[in-house]
Amino acid sequence: MTDTTTEQATAAASGAAATEQFRSKQRSEAIDVDTKRVDTLVTELLASAHDIIRRHKVTYAEYDVLKSWLIQVGQDGEWPLFLDVWLEHVVEEVASENREGSKGTIEGPYYVLDAPALPAEATLPMREDEGGTPLLFQGQVTGVDGTPLSGAKVEIWHADDDGYYSQFAPNLPEWNLRGTVVADDQGNFKIHTVEPAPYQIPTDGSCGKLIDAAGWHAWRPAHLHLKVSAPGHQLITTQLYFQGGSHVEDDIAQAVKPELILAPTPVADGKGNEVTYDFVLDKA
Ligand code: DHB
Ligand code: FE
Repeated sequence: MTDTTTEQATAAASGAAATEQFRSKQRSEAIDVDTKRVDTLVTELLASAHDIIRRHKVTYAEYDVLKSWLIQVGQDGEWPLFLDVWLEHVVEEVASENREGSKGTIEGPYYVLDAPALPAEATLPMREDEGGTPLLFQGQVTGVDGTPLSGAKVEIWHADDDGYYSQFAPNLPEWNLRGTVVADDQGNFKIHTVEPAPYQIPTDGSCGKLIDAAGWHAWRPAHLHLKVSAPGHQLITTQLYFQGGSHVEDDIAQAVKPELILAPTPVADGKGNEVTYDFVLDKA
């Protein structure tokens, strides 16, 4: 653990930051969804809800609990967290159905645009006393046909050894454990960082309340987040997990895929672990 802070991370603060970030990076701000499609999707969504109410004979008391909880999710700013934990994995599944290259998975709420650019071999911005096992994460970015992709970009962001993300928890340097690594002319990159800790969904807000009420756990396995891109190719958003780590088998966000599990090995000098993972990008 890194020696940090007396100020506690709260659901309301990380929720507010995630809401603000989402608004600034939203993909579909100006999208004009066809009236017919809105009609179909919303009608079917409501019909599923009506069916559940009838089948389970939902009471007025339960309806009021739901209504008050939904209001609270908005007040806590926890919609980005809720949606990214319980819905995004299916949106990602549909979006990547026809992709041949590397698997992707959910983005989650904590991506920030324009992290500092770093050379092909780089150490992520971190504190002097950053906790966690040092990790050398290296690999190559190629096309589906094996062509090395010169000038590929590897954006990486991850939680620290306490499970906190910079810009979403108090007292972390702005770009801690975030960077945009520009691969060399063969698409190679070497990133020095530390292994993140498992991440716990904030338990003190409305999502925490739901988890508690349903008797679930609040954990995601430790993971690296990545966005990998190259000119003329499709960007992939993915996450990589650590073999044998806690909650790899029961991620609350259901975002783990077998292809995304790393098995790092100790480096020769005994100071940390290393792992190689190559990214294959589909043509745009
Ligand atoms: C959430 C957090 C993550 O770190 C992630 O990868 C996905 C979802 C969340 O709190 O919603
Ligand atoms: Fe995450």
